[in-house]
Formats: sequence, structure tokens, C-alpha cells
Amino acid sequence: MTNTIFDFVGDTVGDWKVSSMTTIKGNSLASVSHLTKVPKEELVQTETGIWTLKGIVSHLRYTEKEDKEKLVAVQQDLGRANSTLAAFIPIRKSEAWWNLAQDERRKIMENKSRHTQTGMKYLPAIARKLFHSRDIGEPFDFLTWFEYAPADADAFEELLDALRKAEEWNYVEREVDIRLVKTV
Ligand code: HEM
Repeated sequence: MTNTIFDFVGDTVGDWKVSSMTTIKGNSLASVSHLTKVPKEELVQTETGIWTLKGIVSHLRYTEKEDKEKLVAVQQDLGRANSTLAAFIPIRKSEAWWNLAQDERRKIMENKSRHTQTGMKYLPAIARKLFHSRDIGEPFDFLTWFEYAPADADAFEELLDALRKAEEWNYVEREVDIRLVKTV
């Protein structure tokens, strides 16, 4: 189970310096100046920092074989030396979303909102990782993490703008957008 559970610790010190914190929808998070992503081995409730958000690396829910192969072929890992910028965006979706059947959710994400198709255009520039939080009783359903070089910062904004305008985002009821600069 090593490196499948992560704590995202917001505090006054840490590996990433917060350059901005914007509440896009719903309740905000207490403001912090730094964030650290800490791999854990157990799902224990630990309270460190000003706040801690927990997420687990899980299996794919909606991605079909062809897209999975395309993603694996082009996406790059986190931790690239020139990826000095990151975005940490915790998201919660509404009860209306979770009440839909799996195939209805997939239709909204992929057929109507083209989430993967849109995202794919920004690979390999943007490295990404999705953490699941809903099933472990956390305040957010997903913790999303992106890393990129300063030269790709405009492309990242363009991607976010496109996703937020799509139908899928009508189901987002809480979203906090935290931007980071590497300090280590
Ligand atoms: C960088 C390009 C991106 C690509 C290639 C991409 C691709 C994907 C894929 C394939 C999934 C489905 C995973 C599954 O099958 O379970 C997914 C889920 C998700 N992505 Fe992205 N994505 C990108 C960017 C973003 C951005 C910028 C956001 C905004 C914060 C975002 C938020 C999410 C969320 C919240 C989910 C989970 C949705 C759910 O299960 O309801 N993604 N992404």
C-alpha cells in the first residue's frame, strides 16, 4: 500500500509555496502559505498543519481501453525538474451527480463535456494525478494535482477554463483552486 495514500498538509512551512488561493465555489479553506504532499502508509486520521486533506490513488472509473492506452503513451510523471509550478484543486460534486448511474456520469464527462479529449491536448506539458477522497469520509470528493513549467502556465489556464465551462462542472458544488511554486 506504499504511496497510495497521501496527506496534503496546508501550513506555514512546506515544500510548495502558495502563490494564490481562490475559492471558485462553496466554502473556502483556511488560508495557508505552504503545502506539502506527504505519502502515508495507513489510513489513519492525522491532523497536522493548519489543515490536512487526505486522498487515495484509486482505479479508473470511466476511461475506456483506447483512451487509457493513449494516456499511458503520452502522459509524464510528476516530479519533473522543470515543473516548478503546481495546482492543487480539491473538488466536491453534488448529490445530483452521485445519484446518477455510472453510465450517465460517463456520458456527461466524456460524450458531453469531452473531459479526456480536452485534457489530452495538454499532455505531456501538464503532469497530473487524481486522488479520491469521497469514500474515506473527507470533505472533498477529489483532490486534483497538476505540475507544469512556467512556459505552460497559460495553457493550463486555457484547459481549466474549457473544463469549467463544460456541463460536468454544473455538478461541482465546492472547488478551491490553490496555486503553488516549488521551494525544494
Ligand atoms: C491535464 C489534462 C487532463 C487529462 C488528460 C485528464 C483526464 C482525466 C481522466 C481520463 C479522468 C477519468 C478517470 C477515470 O476513469 O476514473 C479524469 C477525471 C477527473 N479529472 Fe481530469 N484530466 C485533465 C485535467 C483536469 C483538470 C485541469 C481538472 C480540474 C481540476 C480535472 C479534474 C478531474 C476530476 C475532478 C476528475 C474525477 C471526476 C469524477 O470521477 O467524477 N482534470 N481526468
